[in-house]
Amino acid sequence: MSETPLVLTEIHGQVGLIRLNNPKAYNALSPELLRQLMDALEALDADERVGAIVITGNEKVFAAGADIKAMSQASAVDMLMGGYVDLFDRIRAVRKPIIAAVAGWALGGGFELAMACDMIVAAENARFGQPEINLGVIPGAGGTQRLTRTVGKYLAMEMVLNDRRLTAEEAARFGLVNKVAPTDAYLDEALKLAQAIAERAPIAVRLGKEAVNYALESTLTAGLAYERRLFYLLFATEDQSEGMDAFLNKRPPEWKGR
Ligand code: CAA
Repeated sequence: MSETPLVLTEIHGQVGLIRLNNPKAYNALSPELLRQLMDALEALDADERVGAIVITGNEKVFAAGADIKAMSQASAVDMLMGGYVDLFDRIRAVRKPIIAAVAGWALGGGFELAMACDMIVAAENARFGQPEINLGVIPGAGGTQRLTRTVGKYLAMEMVLNDRRLTAEEAARFGLVNKVAPTDAYLDEALKLAQAIAERAPIAVRLGKEAVNYALESTLTAGLAYERRLFYLLFATEDQSEGMDAFLNKRPPEWKGR
């Protein structure tokens, strides 16, 4: 196995940046790359300097999906016991906000990885799709579920059953993307957004992420009750007193994360 790391981590201000680094294979998400990515995410989640995380590829490709070479000879039992797709679940336990900064191809597992993040900033040249149908399979890392919850049944059907791909503009129109930026500026835009969130009250950011994610999993009644408990809980934090006092005294707040 090559010694080159398959993901690279940098710190920019209060933002942890992870670059997928398997350019020869279009950032195909091999099990080893995914393992390194999830390790890097968990390290940044535990890093006190970091308030938000950005995952990116390069200007040509975010990630072209699961590694087809590695999967081509696998049996159902190999797939089940290998736990490859299960690796994607580790991203759900990350508490800090994660932004996918996507340029070029985000296909199959690459698109599923972007959708598993909390926000997506796209370059004008970004292209999103679930082409698994061409390989005789379907998405296996959340594509049928997260895509349908975002764009609705009819477009999701076309993407999953007939490999319809979306441009960045279309993805923005269908609510998949927070912002489209010129291809030479998409990463700066994603870092700027992440830095702005990292400067906010950390516990409120954490519970806000938890509450929004809960909306995807619950009934309205259960979700409203969950939200209300988190809202009340925030009145036990020093940041709540600080935020309201700063507003009333017309000064900027100083968050402590306490
Ligand atoms: N796995 C392994 N290798 C891949 C790959 C992948 N997902 N995608 C691209 N590559 C490799 C190609 O085999 C090729 O390697 P060689 O140079 O050794 O031949 C190299 O990257 C460049 O690819 P192309 O020659 O095809 O380049 P292109 O510019 O014409 O097209 C592309 C780029 C549109 C990304 C095209 O390669 C493509 O469609 N890739 C496959 C995308 C795909 O089907 N993804 C779904 C994977 S399954 C999945 O993700 C399951 C899941 O839900 C978890």
